[in-house]
Amino acid sequence: MNMGRAVSVLAASVVFLAGSVQLCRGEEVFHHGLSVNPRGDFEDCVACHDGLIAKDVPYCTQNCSFKTAHSLQRPYPPPGQESSYQPPAVLRAEGVELVRGTVVCISCHNLRNPAPHHLVVDIDGSRLCYVCHIK
Ligand code: HEC
Ligand code: HEC
Ligand code: HEC
Repeated sequence: MNMGRAVSVLAASVVFLAGSVQLCRGEEVFHHGLSVNPRGDFEDCVACHDGLIAKDVPYCTQNCSFKTAHSLQRPYPPPGQESSYQPPAVLRAEGVELVRGTVVCISCHNLRNPAPHHLVVDIDGSRLCYVCHIK
């Protein structure tokens, strides 16, 4: 290998490494002064959102209804109610993620969105809700 080529290969690796380091940093976001994994699971979010470190968050995992807080960690779509819910492909297209086929915090919240409440989709006109629910 001649010297010029060695230098350009080296330069390419440095650029590649710098890129990887940035990717690693990209895993965390600055969230209200704290470094947080924006892809955190339900448990990661409620570890802080417990009413002590950060605002407590109401949610429901069993016997959920219109009277309770929103249901989480339930299969999507609920078995037998497929016709009331958009297919998962529609959710993906809107950036609404399911984790293990269930609705979790990051299905509705994107910590990279600086807007109030960090929602994945704007709540105006209940747009967020109708990504999943069929009117
Ligand atoms: C290291 C602790 C920590 C973790 C982990 C964390 N948060 Fe927070 N979050 C905070 C703090 C602190 C605030 C601002 C003060 C408050 O809400 O009490 C906040 C605020 C928020 C807000 C905005 C509230 C508003 O009034 O606009 C949302 C939404 C939110 N977090 C969602 C999440 C979600 C979803 C996750 C998991 C992916 C998460 N947070 C993980 C600490 C955390
Ligand atoms: C089905 C969608 C959805 C899910 C799932 C969801 N949220 Fe929210 N969340 C919202 C919306 C919409 C708001 C905006 C406030 C409102 O209109 O109730 C909100 C508000 C919040 C707030 C601000 C509350 C306040 O009093 O200002 C925090 C913090 C938060 N969510 C954290 C979480 C965490 C943590 C989870 C998981 C345990 C979660 N959310 C699951 C939709 C959701
Ligand atoms: C990521 C998909 C998703 C989003 C976004 C979403 N929901 Fe839901 N919602 C569900 C699923 C799934 C259930 C049923 C879960 C179960 O109990 O089996 C549900 C249940 C409910 C229920 C309980 C009653 C019922 O129909 O079973 C209400 C009320 C509700 N959602 C309101 C809302 C509102 C309001 C919004 C917008 C802020 C919203 N949802 C956003 C997926 C979603």
